[in-house]
Amino acid sequence: MEIRARAKINLTLDVIGRRPDGYHDLASVMQEIDLADTLVMEPAEEISLVVDPPVVTAGADNLILRAARLLREYGRVREGAAIRLTKRIPVGAGLGGGSADAAAALQGLNELWGLGLEPGMLKELGAGLGSDIPFCLTGGTALVTGRGEVVEPLTPLPVMDLVLVRPPFKVSTAAIYRLWDERGLAGGAATAAMLEAVTRGDWRRVASCLANDLEAVTCNLHPEVFAIKRGLAGALAVLMSGSGPTVFSLWPEVQPAVLSRLFPSYQVMFTRTAVEEPG
Ligand code: C5P
Repeated sequence: MEIRARAKINLTLDVIGRRPDGYHDLASVMQEIDLADTLVMEPAEEISLVVDPPVVTAGADNLILRAARLLREYGRVREGAAIRLTKRIPVGAGLGGGSADAAAALQGLNELWGLGLEPGMLKELGAGLGSDIPFCLTGGTALVTGRGEVVEPLTPLPVMDLVLVRPPFKVSTAAIYRLWDERGLAGGAATAAMLEAVTRGDWRRVASCLANDLEAVTCNLHPEVFAIKRGLAGALAVLMSGSGPTVFSLWPEVQPAVLSRLFPSYQVMFTRTAVEEPG
């Protein structure tokens, strides 16, 4: 069985406030994108994972293995699965790659092991593993609230070309939220206007509402992110995704050669918002 694990971008990310459990309440409009890892899963006696290329370890703390073990325990499954992950989504980049992989593992193994669990149950299991997993199980365009576990699907936006630029370092989401707390920052309220723009299905309006409260924190720590934003000034709109450092930009018409030359030492990815697969 082969399953695609698609990345996400945050069209808005309002940090509402710190919760007693240390997480933060959010309001975010998330968008699934076409950039994806692939998971191939086959029946086996034990659960095993191979990562190609080996950009993340296949150790016990790997989110795919944690998701697999959780599902096996919950479903009282006796079999295992041999899982092969082909990694394309950059790691520690603000694109939800680890969460996408865990979501794909939950969906794929639910089928492989014939568990027949409802999507709501998979979301509940996934939410305990990572805040972006409930969205990754839903996909499309959605309003995400709580710490990430409340996902309300929205009318999907028309397909839009995207250019992602990633500098060659990772960002720790936990560290960015810690800095947010230390600075006593106040969150914005961009999501209400974004919901209106999404309802109209109008990317120009969406572009004018893009906002991410974590962007200033990450830019302060890594001025390269701000420099990338400046370099992409010709786009319809530019924003950092999640806690960064990847910056995404919306382009009605992309010129790959020009953009690749602009950032010779960074990873430049040409993709688009996700298209529904036929059938
Ligand atoms: O849930 P996940 O493991 O992806 O979160 C990584 C870190 O980001 C958490 O340990 C927490 O510090 C922070 N976080 C947060 N509030 C959220 C999501 C993540 O504070 N809603």
